[in-house]
Amino acid sequence: MRFEPGGPLQGELHPPPDKSVSHRAALIGAMAEGPTRISGYLDSADTRSTLRAIAAVGAEVREGEPDDHGGLFIEVEGIGLHGPRSAEIDVGNAGTLLRLMPGWLAGQREGDWTLDGDESIRRRPVDRITEPLGQMGADVEAHDDRLPPLRIRGAVLRGIDYELPVASAQVKSCLLLAGLLADGTTTIREPYWTRDHTERLLASAGAEIRRDGNRITVAPTERLEAGDVPVPGDFSSAAFFLVAALIVPGSEIRLREVGINRARIGLLSILSRMGVEMGGTHLTQGGPEGAARKPPAITVEEIREPGPEPVAQLNVLSAALRGAEITADDVPSAIDELPLVALLGCFAEGETVVSGATELRTKESDRIAGIVEGLSALGAEIEGRPDGFAVRGTGGLRGGTLDARGDHRLAMVGAVAGLASREGVEVTGFESVEVSYPGFERDLRSLLV
Ligand code: S3P
Repeated sequence: MRFEPGGPLQGELHPPPDKSVSHRAALIGAMAEGPTRISGYLDSADTRSTLRAIAAVGAEVREGEPDDHGGLFIEVEGIGLHGPRSAEIDVGNAGTLLRLMPGWLAGQREGDWTLDGDESIRRRPVDRITEPLGQMGADVEAHDDRLPPLRIRGAVLRGIDYELPVASAQVKSCLLLAGLLADGTTTIREPYWTRDHTERLLASAGAEIRRDGNRITVAPTERLEAGDVPVPGDFSSAAFFLVAALIVPGSEIRLREVGINRARIGLLSILSRMGVEMGGTHLTQGGPEGAARKPPAITVEEIREPGPEPVAQLNVLSAALRGAEITADDVPSAIDELPLVALLGCFAEGETVVSGATELRTKESDRIAGIVEGLSALGAEIEGRPDGFAVRGTGGLRGGTLDARGDHRLAMVGAVAGLASREGVEVTGFESVEVSYPGFERDLRSLLV
């Protein structure tokens, strides 16, 4: 797929529903009693894998009419916390499903499950969940003790107090789900605040769960009732347009109904350090002198909480950027946007350095190797480091061919790079966008004048 230099980007877009929240809404719906009505469920390969997985263990999944923005209406008839039947589960490419579902299954009194997936999923580490689940008393086996396929047999679990060695919302969520079924309370300590969608959904479904600083504690629970769950727009999908609008001169776009959970919007604070002015309802530094100045490049407005997650409209204008330093504490809330930070770095003045991001090596692909090789092939001055990368801004990008390595986020970075480049970008393996954003190309082109 080829993306020619183009733009400016103009107009309005609803990004697709949030992938992380969709996975969790379906799983928690299956664990609940009675119906859960999910509005705006993401229609993508990964989230379809989760619907098939919950159906495989006995939940009934009914699909209604999609909404105006392609979000699905899904009704899940739950089987209850103790209801899943034995099954072989194909997770496809979905790392979130691979890490979260075992927490529920491991705490069953009986049953036998295997979770396996595609070639890329077989390279995703699962020892990060089997190790703490084992401490809880779970019966879980992984290939070479660390990779899928994963086999789980039901066992009696006990609550633990566990400090996450890596800041991972997937691991935290897995242990919280297991904690619902364990004897005694389960406490998870996280080194940095990671996305808390599981906590929010469990609390709204009636679980006894609370946060105290960096500690989250969950008590054993008899039943969950999830009811109506609206899914916000995906900030990580919206981020591709936000970055495209910033780097393609003359752009002006509005992104509607975007989830702004604070553990997801680290890109905004990185951008503010890159010199992008922020404004809006809760960010205005304003004052009378502010009114006379150029409007901020990013404004956040219409903040609402229609369900467990806050949403807002983001208005974005193109802007000049300067290099910034991104360190470990920035990483969890911007983990999926770091490939975009590399692209931003090419257009910034000075150097942009990302460190403390070794986790990028175990995503859908080795995203450090992928972004360094991908952007180098387009003319960028970028160098990989064991835990990140350094980019020297050259004010633009030549263009060329970028290999997405079967990774949806690298494919979408390639597309945005193409628009902002001088000669255009050919993205090989572009079809991997199906994993999170099947309509990406259409949506991107709809903003081009
Ligand atoms: C996710 C958490 C992140 C993120 C992934 C989705 C989730 O992974 O990279 O795309 O839904 O919990 P980790 O929590 O493993 O860092």
